[in-house]
Amino acid sequence: MTQRAYNFSAGPAVLPEPVLAEVQRDLMALPSAKASILEISHRSKTFKEIISAAESNLRTLLAIPEDYSVLFLQGGSRLQFSMIPMNLLTASQDCTDYILTGAWGKHALEEAKKVGATHVAWDGSDGNYTSLPTDQELDVSPNAAYAHVTSNETIEGVQFQTEPDVGNVPLVCDASSDFLSRPLPIERYGLLYACAQKNAGPAGVTVVVIRNDLLQRSSETLPSYLNYQVQAKAGSLMNTAPTFAIYVVRLVTDWLLNEIGGLEKMHALNQAKSAMLYDVIDSSNGFYTRHAQAECRSLMNVVFRLPSDDLTKLFLSEAEEFNLTALGGHRSVGGIRASIYNAMPTAGVETLRDFMIRFRDQHAV
Ligand SMILES: Cc1ncc(COP(=O)(O)O)c(C=O)c1O
Repeated sequence: MTQRAYNFSAGPAVLPEPVLAEVQRDLMALPSAKASILEISHRSKTFKEIISAAESNLRTLLAIPEDYSVLFLQGGSRLQFSMIPMNLLTASQDCTDYILTGAWGKHALEEAKKVGATHVAWDGSDGNYTSLPTDQELDVSPNAAYAHVTSNETIEGVQFQTEPDVGNVPLVCDASSDFLSRPLPIERYGLLYACAQKNAGPAGVTVVVIRNDLLQRSSETLPSYLNYQVQAKAGSLMNTAPTFAIYVVRLVTDWLLNEIGGLEKMHALNQAKSAMLYDVIDSSNGFYTRHAQAECRSLMNVVFRLPSDDLTKLFLSEAEEFNLTALGGHRSVGGIRASIYNAMPTAGVETLRDFMIRFRDQHAV
């Protein structure tokens, strides 16, 4: 088998090796179906067991209350940028509110503008999206349909540590890049969504957790696929579901439950992994500089710069020689981005840490 590098891709991203091994082992035939997961109906007994196990694992891991539905949809988080205002903004609310802490929140806002009136409750662009608002700084419209927040901005590496207080307005959260990385008080959210390809599985499925009373807002005039209420009633099976992606979500959530031991433990591992890299950055005498301010630095995407573009290029090419791949920062921010999602092993982060220390010792003046 080709040797696997430590892959720091922001997404699609590293998956747990035991999950990949199980997929490989059972790809020709799932024992219960005598056919591949790629070949069975989304309405077969075997697949129904898979989707219900995926849902029940998510409910256990996140302690999702009974009065919330869990949906498995296609179209990525980007389609949620549109579905959320299409479903949740009705004639009885004034607008939708957006808290902008980075590039993905801005993309979400742009899509909402196509649907109806929007209002920006906070915008961190003046600070180049390096910080987060305090609750007092939020200007949430009292009659907003919802307030949208991005819990972890994947490009800037800025992460909320706790939920912003938006009063009685339903909190809607894009948790694409920190889903399942820590426990969450789901009851604080009206809706939470995450594409799977960072922390929960492969590309192709997006998980939506929605409080059931909000389903009443979906208008019958919406295209059926885009209607949360229709999707919830059909158990995410109104059309052919992304069966393979949901199967892998089931295996990843099995891994979180049985091998990691739940989200408290996952969170502790993620804190320890990210601290290793931030310690090197913060003790480098300015050789490495962090993008995010200390109190909102992300546990998932560690974004930093080197003193020059030449050193950044050298860092990236030498890192490849040590089997450390996909470390280039997003083109809009530059520098380095180490995405260290749940499945990145501690050994991978240790290898990167040691490489960073050596590189600094060789090149700091
Ligand atoms: C925070 C966040 N939101 C949304 C998206 C878009 O997800 P998708 O490509 O599944 O539409 C991404 C993808 O990188 C993301 O990081």
